[in-house]
Amino acid sequence: MNKVFLNLGKQPLANSFLKNVDKNTLRNEFFYNLKICFNTKNYLVSIKKPVNPKKQYTDKYAHRASESKTMKLAFKNIAKKLFKRFRPKKIMEIGSNDGVFLKNFKKKSVIAIEPCKNLAKITKRLFRTYDKFWNLKLSDKLIKEKRGEIDLIFSANTISHIPDLKETFRGIYNILSKDGVIVIEDPSLLKVIQNNSYDQFYDEHVYVFSTISINNIIREFGLRLFDIEHLSTHGGSNRYYICKEEGKYKNTLRLKKAIKKEIYFKLHKIETYLKFSKRVNLSKKRLLTLMKRLKTKNKKIISYGATYKSTTVFNYCKINSKIIDYVTDTTLNKQGKFTPGTHIKIISPNVGINNQVDYAFLGAWNFKKEIFRKERNFLVRGGRFITHVPKVKILNK
Ligand code: TMP
Repeated sequence: MNKVFLNLGKQPLANSFLKNVDKNTLRNEFFYNLKICFNTKNYLVSIKKPVNPKKQYTDKYAHRASESKTMKLAFKNIAKKLFKRFRPKKIMEIGSNDGVFLKNFKKKSVIAIEPCKNLAKITKRLFRTYDKFWNLKLSDKLIKEKRGEIDLIFSANTISHIPDLKETFRGIYNILSKDGVIVIEDPSLLKVIQNNSYDQFYDEHVYVFSTISINNIIREFGLRLFDIEHLSTHGGSNRYYICKEEGKYKNTLRLKKAIKKEIYFKLHKIETYLKFSKRVNLSKKRLLTLMKRLKTKNKKIISYGATYKSTTVFNYCKINSKIIDYVTDTTLNKQGKFTPGTHIKIISPNVGINNQVDYAFLGAWNFKKEIFRKERNFLVRGGRFITHVPKVKILNK
């Protein structure tokens, strides 16, 4: 049974940065209710009423995985590692973005699935790409075209975005070779609970998976979780290794440990989520109190990184341009636009990080180390960061 434990209120699409804030644009801005629930049977945490994916993954999708050096290197490394471990002949990626992962394999051995047409267009030039949503029907089509029997399916930060898990996993089972492996990377629920990082909940994260929920769900579709790795990406993620129930892989010790740890932290109990919800509420109050106190002292506050996560924070906490002067972001595509729902101007850090700034809210808290290294001058001259993860705090190191 699904029980709602957290209400993050009316939210816009996290990635719907606005070109302008005229009346007409604002009248048409789309909002939905972001309520999060827990399934007491299979332990799955999900958005109560997900947004229709056709509204989200359009031909204007902004995120390009290759833009981050950290992510580019991470994908290169995992591609190498997976190739060495499984020696796959046929590889498919669900949610291939701009091909940052698949580029590391022989072009003829890969198939890309990417519903955002602007992104699919990039990889079509390089290898076989289907600009479609992943489902059972598409897996049937591939099998008919003699492109079935896939040895390795990879999907990073995508499976958690697809509302229909039944279609997803039935399609995967259908197309996977006998000893094929599917590798899924997604944010870790345990990390969200431990870090109080409620901003991992936004429209695209329909699910925030735990090991125990993945383990339960895939069983229904003849699949088995046999290994796991913990990653530092996106504020803490898990990489799940899955095969067919009868596949040749043995369950690893580290998988058993991960499951034990989640049970220890009670990820299978509704009480855990109700307590989390209280902490989230407190975090909102503390962040607002802190920022308002700084404003009464005439301090200038900006935000660092126009992230999807900060869309949730700003809209939930009702933080707008009365509190935050502007947001800085290195992405050219975001500069000059306005944040979804709260309409704060986004500018380049070259202009925005200047001597007038007293405080910068860490919208991109998951890149804290990188940012602190880069902004040493800001810190040395007395500039301070504000974070809400794991607690609302002013940071100078
Ligand atoms: P994401 O966490 O939603 O993927 O986005 C991170 C955003 O933060 C992305 O738009 C780039 C921005 N960013 C900066 O502006 N400066 C930085 O130093 C880093 C690491 C990220």
